[in-house]
Amino acid sequence: MTQITTVQTQPIAGQKPGTSGLRKKTPVFMGRHYLENFVQSIFDVVGAKGKTFVLGGDGRYFNDRAAQVILRMLAANGAARVIVGQGAILSTPAASHLIRLNKTDGGIIMSASHNPGGPNEDFGVKFNMPNGGPAPEGVTEAMYKRTTEITEYRMLEAQDVDLSHIGRHQLGAMVVDVVDPVTDYAALMETLFDFPAIRAMFAGGFRMRMDSMCAVTGPYATEILENRLGAAKGTVVNGTPLPDFGGMHPDPNPTWAKALMDEMFGANAPDFGAASDGDGDRNMVVGRGIYVSPSDSLAVLAANAHLAPGYKAGLKGVARSMPTSAAADRVADALGIGKYETPTGWKFFGNLLDAGRATICGEESFGTGSDHVREKDGLWAVLLWLNILAVRKQSVAEILAEHWAKYGRNYYSRHDFEAIETAKADAMMAALRGALAGLPGKTVQGMTVSMADDFAYTDPVDASVSTKQGVRVLFQDGSRIVYRLSGTGTEGATLRVYLERYAAGPAGLDLDAQAALAPVIRAAHEIAGIAAHTGRTAPDVVT
Ligand code: G1P
Ligand code: ZN
Repeated sequence: MTQITTVQTQPIAGQKPGTSGLRKKTPVFMGRHYLENFVQSIFDVVGAKGKTFVLGGDGRYFNDRAAQVILRMLAANGAARVIVGQGAILSTPAASHLIRLNKTDGGIIMSASHNPGGPNEDFGVKFNMPNGGPAPEGVTEAMYKRTTEITEYRMLEAQDVDLSHIGRHQLGAMVVDVVDPVTDYAALMETLFDFPAIRAMFAGGFRMRMDSMCAVTGPYATEILENRLGAAKGTVVNGTPLPDFGGMHPDPNPTWAKALMDEMFGANAPDFGAASDGDGDRNMVVGRGIYVSPSDSLAVLAANAHLAPGYKAGLKGVARSMPTSAAADRVADALGIGKYETPTGWKFFGNLLDAGRATICGEESFGTGSDHVREKDGLWAVLLWLNILAVRKQSVAEILAEHWAKYGRNYYSRHDFEAIETAKADAMMAALRGALAGLPGKTVQGMTVSMADDFAYTDPVDASVSTKQGVRVLFQDGSRIVYRLSGTGTEGATLRVYLERYAAGPAGLDLDAQAALAPVIRAAHEIAGIAAHTGRTAPDVVT
C-alpha cells in the first residue's frame, strides 16, 4: 500500500526561477524541503491532477534522486501519467519533443544546462509548457510567488521506481512510462534531414569530431551520427554522460571545448567538428581551421535551410535575440522573410514559433533551433550543418567565405566578466543606465554614438512587454555594444558585453574578430567604466 503524506514546510527565500528555471548549487537543492517546496509550487500553479507530464534531465549529480522525489510528488498530487526517459535521462530538446509528440500537459526538466555538475556544482529544475517550451514569465513569477507562501507539500510514501528498465510501471495510482530517451528524437531528425545524403558523405570519407563533453548528448550523437549516419566509430568523444561531466565544464565554446578547437586547428583536422552542452540544447560548430561564431552559424543555417527536406518550402521568418549579431537579419532581408529581435532567453521565441511567424531562431550563446521543438537544439544544428555540407559539397571555410562575400561580415564577440560582486555589477549598470541620455552624439574611440537605450520588447503575438533587457549603444558606423547581467549564473553577477562591427563585402574577410573589434572593445570599457566599477580589466571568457 502506498500512502500520501502532507508534509508541513515553510517558504525558503530566493526560489526565483530565471530565464531557464531555478538554478542553484547542488547542496542547496539537496537541502531540507528545497526541491520539494519548488516542485510543489510548480504543481500548485499549473495543476497536476489527472494530467500527464514528461520528466527527464541531463544526468548530472542528484538527477536520479531528484527524479524519484518528483515522481512521488507527482503521484501524490494526482498526476495520471508520467513519461520518463530511461535512467531519468532526457536532453532538453528531446524532452520538448516528447511533450509535444504525446500532447502532454508539460514537462519537468532537471538541468543547469551548461553549468558544471557534481556534489558542489550546479543543479536546476525547470517547467516546460504543453507547447514544449519554457514557462513564460507570468507562470514562473506565479511559481516564485507560491514559493514565498508555501506551507505544505504532498509526498507519496513508496519505494523508488525502477527507471533503468523501459516499460510501464505503477506508482500509487499513477502510471510511469519509462521510454528510450533517443528513439523518438532520432526519428524526428530523420524527418527533417536528408540522412541518405549525409550517409553518402560519411561513406565518401568525410570525417567529423563530436565532443559531447560527458554530458547528455552522448547517447543521442552516437546513435544518430555513428549508428544511423555511418560516421566512423569514435567520432563521438566524451560520449558517456557522467554525474560530474567528467569534471568538464560542458559549455560548448572555444574556451571550454578547447580540446575540440585544438584538434580542428591542428594537423590532420577532421572536416567538421561540433560540441554540445550539459543538457544538449547548445552547439558549437567548427570547420577545419575555422571557427563559426554562433551568430554566423544562425545566418548560414537560415540562408541554406531550404537544402534540408524539412525546410525545403522555405522559412517563415528568422528570429534572434537582441545581443546576437545582425548577420541573420541580412539573410532575412535577402530572402524577403520576417525578422525578429527578442530579449535574451529561448522562451521569447516560443510565441513566434507557435504563431508561425518564425521557423529558425538563434542566440549568440551557442543556441540554434527551429519550430520542430520549442527549445534550442544542439544536435539539430549539427545535423543541419551536415545536411548543408552534404548538398553543397564545400568545406565550412568555403561556405563561410561565400556567405561573407555575399552578405558582408558582422564581426562579433562576447566578453564575460564572471563572479563580480553583485552590488558592484548593479552599480555599474545603474550608472550606465543613468548616462544613456547623454551618449548620442558623443565620440568614443573615434566612433560616434548614434543611439543608446535599454532594450524593451513588445511581443508581436501577445503584446506583452519586457523592459530592461540590456543596454544598447549603437554607433554611426554600424558598430554596437550591448551590456547585460546574466540571469543564469549562480555565483555573484556575470557581466556580459556583446561587441559587433560590420564590414561590407569581401574587404572584411580575413581579419581576426578580436582584432577587428579592438576599438569597439576599448569603447565598451570606456563607456561603462568596467574597471572602475568592478576592478576587472579583462574578461574571464571570450567567445
Ligand atoms: C544565457 C545566455 C542566453 C541563454 C540562456 C539559457 O543566459 O546568454 O542566451 O538563453 O543562457 O541557455 P544569461 O546567463 O546570459 O542570462
Ligand atoms: Zn543548455
